[in-house]
Amino acid sequence: ASVYPFFGAHQAGIVTPAQDRLHFAAFDVDDTLDRDGLMALLTEWTDAAARLSQGLEVAEGGAVGGSDYAPPVDTGEALGLPASGLTITFGFGPGLFADASGADRFGLAARRPAMLEPLPRFQGDALVPEISGGDLCIQACADDPQVAVHAIRNLSRIAFGRASLRWSQLGFGRTSSTSTTQATPRNLFGFKDGTANVKAEETATVDDQIWVHASDEPAWLAGGSYLVARRIRMIIENWDRVQLGEQEMLVGRSKGEGAPLSGGTEFTEPDFEKTGATDAPLIDTNAHVRLAHPTTNGGARMLRRGYNFVDGNDSLGRLDAGLFFLSFQRSPQQFIDVQTSLARDGLNEYLKHVGSAIFAVPGGVAEGEFVGQALF
Ligand code: HEM
Repeated sequence: ASVYPFFGAHQAGIVTPAQDRLHFAAFDVDDTLDRDGLMALLTEWTDAAARLSQGLEVAEGGAVGGSDYAPPVDTGEALGLPASGLTITFGFGPGLFADASGADRFGLAARRPAMLEPLPRFQGDALVPEISGGDLCIQACADDPQVAVHAIRNLSRIAFGRASLRWSQLGFGRTSSTSTTQATPRNLFGFKDGTANVKAEETATVDDQIWVHASDEPAWLAGGSYLVARRIRMIIENWDRVQLGEQEMLVGRSKGEGAPLSGGTEFTEPDFEKTGATDAPLIDTNAHVRLAHPTTNGGARMLRRGYNFVDGNDSLGRLDAGLFFLSFQRSPQQFIDVQTSLARDGLNEYLKHVGSAIFAVPGGVAEGEFVGQALF
């Protein structure tokens, strides 16, 4: 079982090979929290996350080593389980830098990254406020769902009285590879997802497209990234009535191999100019891979790290299923450009974006520091 270091130049859980399970949580800071309280919370979260990701209990004493007359410091459900590749990644939402009334109770307004704003409204958005936004976020990824849930549960518990859970999302199957060592998984449309993703091994691209540079604004975010989360509901039942050929046309790739419809195998670059017998392009003008491709978007790329979800069913008997899209990029503009281009995406007939959030993900944590310390 994998154990990933918590401390380092960048936070874990970004270029880390995508684990199989996710528990993602967004928090609102409580009204009474002040600057010192926020720093204390981040310090306690850092200590706890560093321990949890090494397979340790959240604090010394743990689930059964403390007093019989006090609630255990660790909730206990991960006792006996290995670290399971757990990574814990923290992010700061726009609300941390000034609340809706413009009040700057943490004294951080002048430090707000100019691009850290709620995303613009995109065509087709059907956002539900209760599952959007958040002042803080924690992404917990692991190969065992119990380990990921244990992390979020214990970190939420630490935040009690300072920050409250706003919304959270479980994911059960990665929809991306972030390393060339991984096989490409499939999303709930049944297509390989992650083929053309930015991979950890492409170090020059990761540096250019994923990490914020010291020369970018603001400098405190150097070594960090911007995280976009979108809860995308899939209208599965309608999709399942679409002919195979049309499904492939909408994506622009074959369903079995994941090869571009212009020919070749999974990792062949798509040829968007190539035409077939009717002189029509082999990859449709509204195909997802064409509209999402860097050549359509001024070279913009992103590191996708999303998960499948099924949260039961709705009252009409349809699965409440979809893709919990997560992407990391050096600037939110990369996501905005691609999502704007996807307005024409043929897949949209089978999709509904219902949740949206954006976070600045600070750089890596050095031992003895707390996450985001450079901000304060
Ligand atoms: C590629 C599915 C939403 C950005 C792909 C591929 C599939 C896919 C099957 C081809 C394989 C691959 O290269 O990974 C989906 C589904 C979505 C969705 C089912 C919604 C539920 C999005 C969103 C964005 C996005 C919201 C960003 C705004 C991309 C990018 C590529 C891609 C950048 C790679 C394009 C390339 O370089 O060839 N997607 N996607 N996708 N998708 Fe999506």
